[in-house]
Amino acid sequence: MRIYPIRTERLVLRYPEMRDAPVLVKLLGDPSVSRNIPRINYPYRRADALKWLRRVRKPRFNASFGRGYDFMIEVDGEVVGCCHLSWNLKERRAFFGYWVGRPYRGQGIATEAALGLVDFAFGKLGAERVWAMAFADNLASRRVLAKAGLKEEVLMRRNAFFRGQWRDDVGLGVLRSEWAQRLARSRRRQ
Ligand SMILES: CC(C)(COP(=O)(O)OP(=O)(O)OC[C@H]1O[C@@H](n2cnc3c(N)ncnc32)[C@H](O)[C@@H]1OP(=O)(O)O)[C@@H](O)C(=O)NCCC(=O)NCCS
Repeated sequence: MRIYPIRTERLVLRYPEMRDAPVLVKLLGDPSVSRNIPRINYPYRRADALKWLRRVRKPRFNASFGRGYDFMIEVDGEVVGCCHLSWNLKERRAFFGYWVGRPYRGQGIATEAALGLVDFAFGKLGAERVWAMAFADNLASRRVLAKAGLKEEVLMRRNAFFRGQWRDDVGLGVLRSEWAQRLARSRRRQ
């Protein structure tokens, strides 16, 4: 199955290249991303970018999440953020996440990337369930996930201890049947 690139109306979700290090350092120089995604260091240095790029450019497998794929989000050839998709073939379950650089926010980019990943997971991979997680206080991300059709399923109180602070997590998901209904509704509208 070919994964890269995934295209949506405005976006290209493409394979990360080593030459993406400078744009990662620039966009992740804003602490708002690492505040909401614990595995991203702050301050974020060139060495962090190179290490991440080397890791995600190799095939990866995790017993629970399955195969992992990371994407650079491009608009008109410009990198504006990143997103991730994990695919557990045995359980037919996909997980995803994303961030968008501050200068590019508020234009529906995260929502379009999320919808692209959800459509790809159900339409191309044959997922039964697609899910994501956000810190409960990350209202922008919860809104993105709601717009991408995910329902809030669980509130995990004090699920993460991050930079000296307990944070609550929200787990969200969408089922294949719900995605098919959304697709049918949007086809009827066309
Ligand atoms: C969350 C994030 C990806 C959103 O990216 P984006 O491209 O601006 O998202 P979109 O434009 O598609 O949608 C954002 C929605 O959140 C809403 N929103 C933004 N800030 C909000 C806030 N503080 N409270 C409530 N809603 C908010 C916007 O109004 C918009 O909803 P609308 O279309 O109904 O008006 C971006 O802010 C980001 O990268 N944050 C840091 C990293 C992160 O949190 N990643 C997700 C981890 S789970």
